[in-house]
Amino acid sequence: MSMHPYILVLYYSLHGNTREMARHIARGVESVAGVEARLRTVPKVSTVCEAVEEDVPADGDLYCSADDLRNCAGLALGSPTRFGNMAAPMKYFWDGTAALWLGGHLVDKPASVFTSTSTQHGGQESTLLTMMLPLLHHGMVLAGIPYTEAALHQTQTGGTPYGSSHTAGEKKRPPFESGGNPPVFCPGATPGTTGPAPEDRIMSQTSPLALARTLTFVAYGLLLASFCVWQLVRPGGPRYFAWTVQLVPLLIFLPGLRRDNPRAHIGLCFVLLLYFIKAVEGVFSPMRAWIDYVLLSLTVFLFIVSMLTSRWLQRSPKPAESAYADPQ
Ligand SMILES: Cc1cc2nc3c(=O)[nH]c(=O)nc-3n(C[C@H](O)[C@H](O)[C@H](O)COP(=O)(O)O)c2cc1C
Repeated sequence: MSMHPYILVLYYSLHGNTREMARHIARGVESVAGVEARLRTVPKVSTVCEAVEEDVPADGDLYCSADDLRNCAGLALGSPTRFGNMAAPMKYFWDGTAALWLGGHLVDKPASVFTSTSTQHGGQESTLLTMMLPLLHHGMVLAGIPYTEAALHQTQTGGTPYGSSHTAGEKKRPPFESGGNPPVFCPGATPGTTGPAPEDRIMSQTSPLALARTLTFVAYGLLLASFCVWQLVRPGGPRYFAWTVQLVPLLIFLPGLRRDNPRAHIGLCFVLLLYFIKAVEGVFSPMRAWIDYVLLSLTVFLFIVSMLTSRWLQRSPKPAESAYADPQ
């Protein structure tokens, strides 16, 4: 298992709405460099005393273990609303965490809560607030969603300053369908700690980093594809040596780009300067072809977005610097 700090996204869901929210939140967590999301659920409870759940569920996410909770860097906790409160399986799960509470294993760790209801005024806030209570007993530091988060102003299906929420309705409306992007929990700074800037505390999935990263991959892919198309359609047929020389200097950065290594982005930008010089030369030559214009535009665009990605990656929390690295 990876050694990166992880945010435990712990949820209960009977019909899938809260699970959908959990998946959105996990994706948001994973958009932060150096942090992973661990999705876990809890077993149902039964009115039949003898009924015992299997240790491993037949499908879906694994059940949360004490170690999952003990070693997390932060927690996003989700439950459907049941009469204005969290669902019994989730409450039951927390009732079994006395050992962790005695050991103070969750003290000072950041946490956020989220819920799904069937009606808009069916108790989202009360559920979120009551879900916070066991977390406060455990000494966790709760992060809400401030109104500086744009999505909170746009959402039509939920959204509270106490945590993410969603009104599924009877038709099981998918989370965030019309409500913009979900405010996403991020293990950033908490007041009084030496974490990153407060604006990094809650990141939406359209954070500048996520956008720049996506655009980098799109432009990078287009650049590679343009070289391939050009070699395949150029008069005289493909020149394989030139094709290799065009692709290899770009492809060597692919593993680093996929790992979100800022140095890979910087290296790519450096190499792009050579492609840029070649493109400028091509555009001003009498033999110019469409590939020269494509190359020029893509190299300039890719240079900018990759440079921005590198800059924002370096500013995002790293495992060693995280105020919430595993204390053990
Ligand atoms: C026993 C029970 C109680 C519920 N209480 C509420 C409620 O108080 N307010 C509300 O809006 N929805 C209530 N619901 C509806 C669920 O909260 C809603 O369908 C939720 O989206 C289900 O989430 P899930 O798909 O993750 O299980 C209740 C559902 C059940 C089964």
